[in-house]
Amino acid sequence: MAQQEDIFKKVVSHCKEYGFVFPSSEIYDGLGAVYDYGQNGVELKNNIKQYWWQYMVLLHENIVGIDSAIFMHPTIWKASGHVDAFNDPLIDNRDSKKRYRADVLIEEQIAKYEDKIEKEVAKAKKRFGDSFDEAQYRATSPRVLEEQAKRDALHQRYQEVMNAEGGIDLEGMKQIILDEEIVCPLSGTRNWTDVRQFNLMFKTEMGAAAEGASTIYLRPETAQGIFVNYLNVQKTGRMKVPFGIAQIGKAFRNEIVARQFIFRMREFEQMEMQFFVKPGTELQWFDEWKKRRMAWHQALGFGAENYRFHDHDKLAHYANAATDVEFKLPFGFKEVEGIHSRTDFDLSQHAKFSGKKIEYFDPEDNTSYTPYVIETSIGVDRMFLSIMCHSYCEEKLEDGQTRTVLRLPAALAPVKLAVFPLTKKDGLPEKAREIIDSLKFHFNCKYEEKDQIGKRYRRQDAIGTPFCVTVDNQTLEDNTVTLRYRDTMKQERVNISDLRSIIEDQVSLTSLLKNLK
Ligand code: GAP
Repeated sequence: MAQQEDIFKKVVSHCKEYGFVFPSSEIYDGLGAVYDYGQNGVELKNNIKQYWWQYMVLLHENIVGIDSAIFMHPTIWKASGHVDAFNDPLIDNRDSKKRYRADVLIEEQIAKYEDKIEKEVAKAKKRFGDSFDEAQYRATSPRVLEEQAKRDALHQRYQEVMNAEGGIDLEGMKQIILDEEIVCPLSGTRNWTDVRQFNLMFKTEMGAAAEGASTIYLRPETAQGIFVNYLNVQKTGRMKVPFGIAQIGKAFRNEIVARQFIFRMREFEQMEMQFFVKPGTELQWFDEWKKRRMAWHQALGFGAENYRFHDHDKLAHYANAATDVEFKLPFGFKEVEGIHSRTDFDLSQHAKFSGKKIEYFDPEDNTSYTPYVIETSIGVDRMFLSIMCHSYCEEKLEDGQTRTVLRLPAALAPVKLAVFPLTKKDGLPEKAREIIDSLKFHFNCKYEEKDQIGKRYRRQDAIGTPFCVTVDNQTLEDNTVTLRYRDTMKQERVNISDLRSIIEDQVSLTSLLKNLK
């Protein structure tokens, strides 16, 4: 675990050192849980967004995109339930003055019991070797059974307080924290306040302050911009159910426990798609979208073992199925994407609050209905972090040196090709620029002439550039260059006229999308 935390710290400092992510307003000592993307970060982020957009909108005939405004009519948030129920249960430790999410403290306690069980099983596996019967051990080991009983009892109590009639039972939550003797990680004490609900939406004023100003919210999700445009898009696009509307945009949440770098931010970006289906077919579509989204993730090539679904035990009152796509990060499997079957809740609520009829006339069976919705919702920043964590690699080389290389999927890399003149004279810089001038229309190229070639390779490895080309005196004679591959560090002599065909296909998003049938 310590090693994994170490990797995470290294990824965070790598992001800063190589222009991927900077703390916001850094010269003013930063702003909590807000980050800026630097020159390389913005390229990687744009490539992730393109990968998502092209998969959703280009490869699906029945999905179209929109870009709705961040500011929306405030009643939208009343209709969606965010004004009344977009809350986190919070608890303060009086000694450290730190604030925590009470539900997270309890979930971490459940995870501790689960960890203990897994450790017991792993130890026994080692002890008994090939003759180990894991199922029998889990069913009979007194230690495992004891931890399992504690875990199940806590889980059961947690479910009860979360699903209490009239909303979360806040007193019950505090009692669990006391009974489980959960301590504040900072002060080590159990001096807790009561649990309180805290709304996560940011408010601001629109219009003249004195008269007629109204309170509006910074959207906490992009999805509502899609729901309120359902009729516009369906009518003007003459869309037939089933169809989807996709959107990428900023969302804002006043997160209290804003930790783990860009994993939980106050300003972040979402890629959401609402898929409108005929009532009764939603669970089929839910399964279909689970498959499609997992295939999209796995096409990046990080290995299927790093992904899993986490089906929700507790469903929001309007949902009839929900799952998270979890990705293995240095701090455990974590949610990067949510897939929800949201019934007709949102469209019906907007119909009720706006007084407008929001339905679909199905020409096939001459009926009108409010479509049901399958939502896929993924955080761009979390996706970015997952990709950085899995691409970051420190490699021991044959000569004993270590190189840091970002093994980014080539199609997502900020720079695809770096071109180096061996020296700054004899017309080599001009020749290098000539190569860039002919290739820059096809993919992102970078010119570098400072330092020795070895150092230049290292700098490009560190930002994940899949190809480097060196121009030398021989180039002037025969138009060949040395092409060097990031992952293998293999070098070969190739003709300048072949560079485009060697590189373009491997760095294009099309190559990734083609993995997705
Ligand atoms: N419309 C549904 C919705 O917003 P969500 O599970 O609250 O669902 C969807 O958010 C995704 O947005 C998450 O899976 C996560 O990737 C991302 N996300 C949510 N809150 C975030 C935050 N504070 N910082 C970064 N990403 C966040």
